[in-house]
This record gives sequence, structure tokens and C-alpha cells, in this order.
Amino acid sequence: MNMLNTQQDCSDKDVEDIESVSVDRLRAIQLERMHNSLRHAYNNVPHYKASFDEAGVHPEELTSLDDLAKFPFTVKQDLRDNYPFGMFAVPQKEVVRIHASSGTTGQPTVVGYTHNDIEMWADVVARSIRAAGGHSGDKIHIAYGYGLFTGGLGAHYGAEKLGCTVIPMSGGQTEKQVQLIRDFDPDIIMVTPSYMLNLADEMDRQGLDPKKLALRAGIFGAEPWTGTMREELENRLGIEALDIYGLSEVIGPGVGMECIETKDGPTIWEDLFYPEIIDPMTGKVLPDGEYGELVFTSLTKEALPIIRYRTRDLTRLLPGTARPMRRIDRITGRSDDMLILRGVNVFPTQIEEQILRVRQMSPHYELHLYREGHLDRMDVLVELRPECLDCSDFSEARQAELARELSHHIKSVVGISTQVRIAEPGSLARSEGKAARVKDMRPKG
Ligand code: DLL
Repeated sequence: MNMLNTQQDCSDKDVEDIESVSVDRLRAIQLERMHNSLRHAYNNVPHYKASFDEAGVHPEELTSLDDLAKFPFTVKQDLRDNYPFGMFAVPQKEVVRIHASSGTTGQPTVVGYTHNDIEMWADVVARSIRAAGGHSGDKIHIAYGYGLFTGGLGAHYGAEKLGCTVIPMSGGQTEKQVQLIRDFDPDIIMVTPSYMLNLADEMDRQGLDPKKLALRAGIFGAEPWTGTMREELENRLGIEALDIYGLSEVIGPGVGMECIETKDGPTIWEDLFYPEIIDPMTGKVLPDGEYGELVFTSLTKEALPIIRYRTRDLTRLLPGTARPMRRIDRITGRSDDMLILRGVNVFPTQIEEQILRVRQMSPHYELHLYREGHLDRMDVLVELRPECLDCSDFSEARQAELARELSHHIKSVVGISTQVRIAEPGSLARSEGKAARVKDMRPKG
């Protein structure tokens, strides 16, 4: 297969050459690679041959990047329908790694990698760590789960490639995590933001002051998080909190990464993953700057070329700042996480923002959904910060006042009526990976 060279020099230069190419050159690289990727998918994956034929398009018809819009989308169900290996474009002996995500229906989505794919993935993660200010010699504590989830191993190979000392802790064993952070004193941590909060609480419990640690940056992702959560993590831990984006179907972590110079949303590594934003209802491609659903086409992947994959993540494309490549805005949420309450669309992140506006409230919260007659109701359960509860004036009346304050913020900013319930500190489930914030108690069907 005639793939363009995807290997980049990952040594300790500030940025790789490809990260500073002109936009014109980048577009030319993308077009050539896109062509190859479409051909590779069409010639080697029966699903793509059938779907392109059905749409009446052929890879040779791609003469400009805009022509991509003629090609059909790929959705998660396509991967499920071809479970487990039907979307692979190479013989199984060339597949050196499998990952899978469990999803809600129980049927996992399976992804595969050739040796070159693993190398490319390690390169983009190395690039991402460097974009966060990391360099060879840094100690990196990895608390993303190892195993079928792409977080742990994806971060691991990239950190090794950059020449870091990797601490492959994986998720869970919170007490031990903190003991090792104390003993090994890492420079960077890679973990979901919700699990980082859990680790910060455990540091408090163990009497460890995070600001006295060497830790200087957190590379947080795998779930939506807000700007207010960034402030919370930065102030509490004395670190730079940076956003890493990715998804298994496209490669795993490292599809995009926020650069430390600007901290203004993940730069998409566009030389390898071509982004589009579409209107989720009509499928029409939207201009940069408009909000919609993020769609990706892999440009060099061998085992699992992915063409116009609908991520369900809602965001917009923004012009490059720290790098010439485009950025995405913070992901508001996934279209499947959107709650519709009495006609108002709500994302859990919007509630999180309001919670963190109330100084006494902690970022530990759950959203419970109930049905009352024909109407849906949402209760917001939130723990107060333990230090507030120690204050002498923390009467029930004061707690009720705080609950009313939050309810008022949510009503005036998000536009929905909620019942806020103050939960005992430590009573809400803690995340060890991706947080499950929403508990849906509505009758099924
Ligand atoms: O979560 C890959 C990953 C691992 C990314 C570690 C970053 C760090 P999946 O399990 O396939 O892969 O889930 C992908 O997670 O479509 C988004 O909805 C969400 N997601 C990932 N990163 C972010 C982020 C990994 N930075 C799904 N902000 C994606 C918001 C994110 N959502």
C-alpha cells in the first residue's frame, strides 16, 4: 500500500516540522493522503465499497478537499454491524493491536492497528505531551485505564516515544495512586478530569499538599469538562490543566491537544485526521466557526481507515493559534448526552458550570432524572466542600439557601427548573475513569 510517510521525528524539538507547515502545504498533504485513504478503504473494506457504490461516488472523484462531502458518513452502528473485524482493511496477521469500547448497548466497538498505526499514534501522543510543555526526561504518571480502553496504552506509547519516564499506574487503587505520586513525584499526570478530582480529595485525606509536588501539568480528557473545572483543578493542584481529545474509532487519545502557549482548545493534528463540522440534522457541512457535530476522516490509518466518522461530539472548528492547524472549541457534550427537559436542551457540563459558581459547592455532583406524569424532572445532587461544612454556621437553613442559589443560577442561565439536593460529603460515587454523572430513573420505552 502506498501510504505517505507518517513517521515524524519525535525528538526534543519544540515542534515537529509538520506542526509548523504553511496552511497551503498542509491542505496539499491532506488532499493526497485523503485520496489514498479513500482508495484504501474502498479497495479493502466491503462496507466502504458498498456504501460508496450506493452513494454513487468513487475515490477517483476526489479532486479537492471539499469533494469529501460527496462521500457517505460512517456511524458507530456500521462498526457494530461489522463486528468484530469486518471494518479492517488489512489481513489479520498485520493487525498488531486491538482495542474496544464497551458502549451502552453491550456490543463493543472494535478497533485495530497495524505496526505503522501504532507508531503514528505514539507520534501524535508524543506531540500532544510536548504541546503541554512535556519533554524527554519528564516523569509521567498515567492514570488512564490500561486494557481495551485506548487511554492508558495510547498515553503510554506516546510518553515513551517522547523519552519520558512512564509510570503506568492505570485507573483505580486511589490510595496507592496518591502514595506513588508522593514517592515518585511525577512532572505530568494523564488522567480523566473527574478522576483527578478524586485523586485531589485523596491527597487532602493523606495530608499531601499538591502544590509542594513537582507536578506541573495535567493532560486531561476522555470526557467533557468545563473552563470552570479547569480553574478548579489548576488552583487546587497548582498545575496547568490541558485538554486532550480523542476517540477510539479515529485512533484513541491524541487526535487533538491543547497547546500550553494559548490554552484555547485542542489543536487537531490535521495532517493525520481531517475534521469537518456538520449539521447533525441535515448532514450538511458547516463553515468553520459554526457549531455542529464533529466528523473525522483518517488520512493515513492502515488497519481501520475511517471515512467521515460521525463522532456525535458537538463543537466548532476554530482557526489555528499556537499551530497553523485548526482547533476545536471545548466539547459541550455528545449529542447522545443531551437531555431534553420540558423542551429545553441541556448538557451536564452546563450544570457543572453553574455548580462551580457557588463557592461552597464541590465538583462532585450527579443529575437524576425522573418522570412525573408526562413531564420530566431533574434533581441536582451536589456535595458541599468539606471545608465549608466545618464552619460553625453551617445550619440546614444555610444549606437550603445554597441549594436555592444554585437552582436560581440554573434557571436563569440554563433555563430549566431543577430541585437541588445537598448530598453528604463523600456520598456520591467517585469516578475512576470517565464519570457517569447522569442517573436516569425514567421508565424505559
Ligand atoms: O476516550 C480516548 C481518550 C483517552 C481521549 C484519553 C483522551 C484521553 P473513547 O473511549 O472512544 O476514547 O471515547 C471517545 O470521549 O467521542 C468524546 O465524547 C469523549 N472525549 C474524549 N476526549 C474528550 C475531551 C477516548 N477532551 C469520546 N473533551 C469522544 C470532551 C472528550 N470529551
